[in-house]
Amino acid sequence: MVEIADAVEAACQRVLAGLDPGSEPADKDAADFRRRLDAHLPELVRLFHSLYRTRADWADQLTALVQHAAGSWADRPAELKALDAVREENSGWFLSNEMLGGVCYVDRYAGNLDGVRARIPYFNELGLTYLHLMPLFLAPEPHSDGGYAVSSYREVNPGLGTMEQLQALAAELRANGISLVVDFIFNHTSDEHEWARKASAGDPAYSDYYWLYPDRTMPDAFEEQVREIFPDDHPGSFVRMPDGRWVWATFHTFQWDLNYSNPEVFRAMAGEMLFLANQGVDILRMDAVAFIWKQLGTPCENLPEAHLLLRAFNAVCRIAAPSLLFKSEAIVHPDEVAQYIDPAECQLSYNPLQMALIWEAMATRDISLLAQALERRHNIPESTSWVNYVRSHDDIGWTFADEDAAELGINGFDHRRFLNSFYVNRFPGSFARGVPFQDNPRTGDCRISGTTASLCGLEDGTGHAVERILLAHSVAFSTGGIPLLYLGDEVGQVNDYDFALEDGHGSDSRWVHRPHFPAARYARRHDASTPEGAVFAGLRNMIAVRSRTPELAGTRLLDFATKNPGVLGYQRPGDGTRILALANFSDLAQAVAAMTLSGFAVDAVDILAGTPVSLAQGLVLEPRQFVWLRVTPLS
Ligand code: GLC
Ligand code: GLC
Repeated sequence: MVEIADAVEAACQRVLAGLDPGSEPADKDAADFRRRLDAHLPELVRLFHSLYRTRADWADQLTALVQHAAGSWADRPAELKALDAVREENSGWFLSNEMLGGVCYVDRYAGNLDGVRARIPYFNELGLTYLHLMPLFLAPEPHSDGGYAVSSYREVNPGLGTMEQLQALAAELRANGISLVVDFIFNHTSDEHEWARKASAGDPAYSDYYWLYPDRTMPDAFEEQVREIFPDDHPGSFVRMPDGRWVWATFHTFQWDLNYSNPEVFRAMAGEMLFLANQGVDILRMDAVAFIWKQLGTPCENLPEAHLLLRAFNAVCRIAAPSLLFKSEAIVHPDEVAQYIDPAECQLSYNPLQMALIWEAMATRDISLLAQALERRHNIPESTSWVNYVRSHDDIGWTFADEDAAELGINGFDHRRFLNSFYVNRFPGSFARGVPFQDNPRTGDCRISGTTASLCGLEDGTGHAVERILLAHSVAFSTGGIPLLYLGDEVGQVNDYDFALEDGHGSDSRWVHRPHFPAARYARRHDASTPEGAVFAGLRNMIAVRSRTPELAGTRLLDFATKNPGVLGYQRPGDGTRILALANFSDLAQAVAAMTLSGFAVDAVDILAGTPVSLAQGLVLEPRQFVWLRVTPLS
C-alpha cells in the first residue's frame, strides 16, 4: 500500500512539475483549473497506476494527458466555462421533471445540421431539453454502421455539415434550453481511421492501438469465452486482414476494437473526448462500455477494468470539462448495467431492462416481471439518473435476468423464444410487425427490430395500437429518469420496409426502424381524429403534466402492489403527496380494490385528466388505460 501511495504521490508531483512553471495562477480560470486538478489528480493517478503500472510509459502518458487537459481547459470557450460554473452550483440539473430527451439521425430526420437547426421551433413545441444526434463524425460510407465506425473524431461527416456548424448548433440549442448529446464511440474505430491505416501498414506503435495477431492462436484462445455480437456479419470476434493477420472486431468487420491495455490509447482517446467537449457537447453517450477491456480467459465483457477506465475518463472531464456528463450504453445483464451508474463513472444510463419489460408486459398482458424489476432494480444512487425509453435505434434484446424470471416460475430461454415469435408475428393473435435481428440458430439468441408503432400493431388493423403506444410511453415518462423519445414515434411512424434498398443497409434489420422524417405524419399531428394526432396529443399531455409535477423529478420510486397481475403500479414520492401510477396492460377492464388503495386519503386527483377521483370504491381501469394519481398517504 505504501508503495502505491508513494508511486501515486511521485506521479502527481511529476505531473504538476511538468505543468506551466509560472506556478501562481494568473487568473481565476487558472485558479479554477488548479483547484480541480488538486481535487481529481490523485484519483486519476490511482486509476492509471492500477490499470497501467506494468507498462513502462504509464507515468509519461499520464503527464502528457494532464498537460493536454490543461491546454484543453485554456482553449475551452468562455460560454462553456460559464456553463461549467452554473452547473457546478446546480449539479442535479438533469434530474428535473422538465427534462425530456429526443434522438434522431441528422441526415434521416433533417437532412443536415442546418436542417436540425431549422427544427428547433418544433423541439420547443414538443418540450425537448435534451437532443441526442446520432453519430455525425467522419465515417466511411456506405459501411459505417450508421456512423458508429468513426474515421475521424474531429471532422463532421461532410454530408452533414462542418465542425463550425456543429458548434453553432450546440450554442443555439443551449440558448433554447436544449442540451446536446453525441456519442463517444471509444471502444472501436473504423478500419479507415488514421491509426488503423498505420496499424495495417505495419507501424508497431499503431499496431499496439488494436488487438492484432499474426495467426489464430490468440484469437482462438479469446473466442473460447467471448460472445458473438453480430454473428450475421462474421463469426467470433476476430476478422482477417488482407495481409493475413487477425484483428479484434466485436461489431462489424470494419469496426476495430481499441486496445485500452495500452496507456497511449487512453491518452489519445481522452484527447478526442476533450475536443468534443469543447465543441459544446453537454452529454456523451458512452458507446459499448461493456466491451472496452479484454482479458484472456474471461468473456471480455463488464470486466472491473472497464469501470476503472470510465472513472479515469470521468476524472479527466472533472478536471478540464467539468460540466460534461456520461451516459452509459450497457445493454447487458441488469446487475452489470447497474455497475456503470455512479456519479464518478456514468451519471446517466439507458434503462434497457425497463424498455424490454414494457414490451414483455405488452405481449403477455402480465406485469409481474416489470413490477419485480421496478421493485428491485429501479432505484439507483443519488445524483444519477436513468434514461427511460420505449425503443432506440438498436434492436430490442430480452436482457432480463433469468434468475429473476425463475422466481416467478418463468423459464428465461423459453420466454425469450415466445417474445421473439410474438414480436415477429409468428405467435397466434400477435398484433406486432417486428423483424428478427441477428437470429443465431446455434445459440438460440435473437433480438427484435421495429418501430414503436409497428410493434404496437398500428398496421395490424385490429385497433388499440394508439392505446398501446401511449401505455408504453406512460411508463417511460413516469417511473423516474429522463424520458427519451425516438423522434418520429410521437407521430406513430411505422417500419421502413424498403430499408434494404439503401446502400449498405441490406444486411442489418435495425434500419427497418430508422425511417426517414415522416413528413406526412407530422403534418397530421394536430388532427386528433388521426392516429398521428391521437398519439401526439397523448404524449404532449404527458409531457406537459410531467413538467409541472415535482413528484416526477429524480428517479426514486416506491413499489405498489395492485394485487392484480394485469395492472402495473408504482409510486413517486413527493413532499407530502405522491404520484400513484397505475397502468392496465390487459385487454379487459381491471379493478384495483378499495382495500388496496386504503393507505391513501380518499380524495385523489387524476393529474393527466385534471379531474378529482375518489378512491372510496376502488378503481376500474379500462383495457390499456393508465392513470397518474396525486394521492396523500395516510401515515
Ligand atoms: C452500440 C450502438 C450500435 C452499434 C454498436 C457498435 O451498441 O448503439 O448501434 O452498432 O454500438 O458501435
Ligand atoms: C450493444 C449490445 C448488443 C446490441 C448491439 C447493438 O452494445 O451489447 O446487444 O444488440 O450492441 O445492436
